[in-house]
Amino acid sequence: MAPTSPTPADLVDFVTEIITEAGRMTLEYFQDPALVVDRKLDGTPVTVADRLAERFLREQILERFPTDSIVGEEEDDVAGTSGRAWIIDPIDGTKSFTAGVPLFANLIAVLDDDVPVLGAINLPALDELVLASAGGGAFFNGQPTRVSDTADLRGAYLMTSGLTYWPEGSLERLTAEGMTIRTWADAYGYALVATGRVAAMVDPLANLWDVAPMQVILEEAGGKFTDLAGTRTVAGGNGVGSNGAIHEKLLAILPNHGRE
Ligand code: IPD
Ligand code: CA
Ligand code: CA
Repeated sequence: MAPTSPTPADLVDFVTEIITEAGRMTLEYFQDPALVVDRKLDGTPVTVADRLAERFLREQILERFPTDSIVGEEEDDVAGTSGRAWIIDPIDGTKSFTAGVPLFANLIAVLDDDVPVLGAINLPALDELVLASAGGGAFFNGQPTRVSDTADLRGAYLMTSGLTYWPEGSLERLTAEGMTIRTWADAYGYALVATGRVAAMVDPLANLWDVAPMQVILEEAGGKFTDLAGTRTVAGGNGVGSNGAIHEKLLAILPNHGRE
């Protein structure tokens, strides 16, 4: 008998189950004084918790969906044949994680023929899960969630992960517009936008696995996700998430990545 396709609800249940377990696994190593921090070739930190959580997620996904593709930060790509792809970041915010700061996340996105249909941000140390599926709504710990209705840049909070990647002058332009910039964000910044607690989150540099869940999450919560050029994509190498109301104003003063 041919395998039946999972319904959107099946996918939501499955992702909730595996991302919660991945969260538990990573929490076991959080604030452990014996945790060894290795450096990857690009100098970024990685730990046994990143590697174990990604291994666990890949095993669960391939057991249930053996013909799907997988792209994850810590292992090689798996090329499937089903048209469905899973994008994994086992720990997003490894710098937070290794510093003992509880703002790290586990990330999963599901893409159907390159279109994001499900996104999940799990923040195990905060006990927060933000999850959305295309057409199914966005949820914060199981309750419907929505972006803020802030329409002015003045007074709005903008999150970012760190100040290192910002081109000279761009942060000053944001503060000159009256925005307040906060950091330590990573995926937590997008979770804050999706739950209406801040107005925007910007990643001047991001891989597919850093932002793959964000488009569906923010759109289902009533907001917007694009790259810095304003294109609706999770593969642009950077990310701008907002409540939608300030998106165009924000893009207009952010560093221009390919916009005319
Ligand atoms: C980092 C975060 C951050 C982004 C960096 C990533 P990691 O991921 O997603 O927001 O700006 O480019 O490397 O290494 O903590 O998973
Ligand atoms: Ca990441
Ligand atoms: Ca990571």
